[in-house]
Amino acid sequence: MLDGFASPPPRRPGAGRRSGAKRRDRATPPEADGSGGPASGPGGEAALQLLEQGSLEILGRLVEASNETWYCAVSSGGTQAACVYKPVAGERPLWDFPTGTLAGREVAAYVVSRAASWDVVPPTVMRDGPYGPGMCQLWIDIDPQIDLIELARRADHPGLRDLAVFDAVVNNADRKIGHLLPAPGGHLLGCDHGVCFAEDYKLRTVLWQWRGKSLPGRAVEALRRLYALLESGELAAELSPWLSPGELTAMTIRVEKLLKHRVHPYPPEDWPAIPWPPY
Ligand SMILES: Nc1ncnc2c1ncn2[C@@H]1O[C@H](COP(=O)(O)OP(=O)(O)O)[C@@H](O)[C@H]1O
Ligand SMILES: [Mg+2]
Repeated sequence: MLDGFASPPPRRPGAGRRSGAKRRDRATPPEADGSGGPASGPGGEAALQLLEQGSLEILGRLVEASNETWYCAVSSGGTQAACVYKPVAGERPLWDFPTGTLAGREVAAYVVSRAASWDVVPPTVMRDGPYGPGMCQLWIDIDPQIDLIELARRADHPGLRDLAVFDAVVNNADRKIGHLLPAPGGHLLGCDHGVCFAEDYKLRTVLWQWRGKSLPGRAVEALRRLYALLESGELAAELSPWLSPGELTAMTIRVEKLLKHRVHPYPPEDWPAIPWPPY
């Protein structure tokens, strides 16, 4: 089975060749005391609680988004943060993701990133909102000094490499340049994980710079942590509301293979390896 390890060295991907592309301007978040990254403000548990229980106010729509994606303020008591809300009702059906919801996959991606201690996904929950149940994710106010195209091309960025390993684990079919979220403190996160966790190998990303290269020690450690939690059933229990048993098994096999081969996977040959547009 084609799985990213059996392929011969591929052609050079054209990731990031659109030199004219610019980083998109973002709206300034309101009183976004939680938007500096999951480790700042109401990070971790506090952020999850705020996202789950705070009152949600829609401030605008992210017009470039492919699904219904709302920019919101979430507040509780004196705490307020900016967040993204993607209602399940606004999802366009996708032939290759017939089960579950895109919102659920975004929550599952957060759970996996946190379990492995990568923390590359902003705190994300499922909750009810003005347009019904949907995913709600902490907004990361990115560092305006960082050129995302240059960042995406780097081969010397440990956080970017963590993201590439995370993408291999969750089988991310849509890692675009615009999905990179460099927080001001230097921590790198990513967003838009609705099309992850397919059972078939569908890795589609702009981050192929490490293909075929040995995994660094920190990646192996993270994968071991994840594998132990998958084996114990602990993670399966947390992920089962969002992923099918087949998707969970497929992820466990991907982690096993990464630990066995200890290399970054090669691009698939029967599936476009780079998202279009790449930004
Ligand atoms: N949590 C977040 N923090 C900061 N920016 C975000 C966040 N989520 C999304 N964005 C920004 O909004 C854009 C559109 O959101 P995205 O999740 O890609 O929507 P869609 O699923 O419709 O493609 C992203 O490319 C990114 O620039
Ligand atoms: Mg997107």
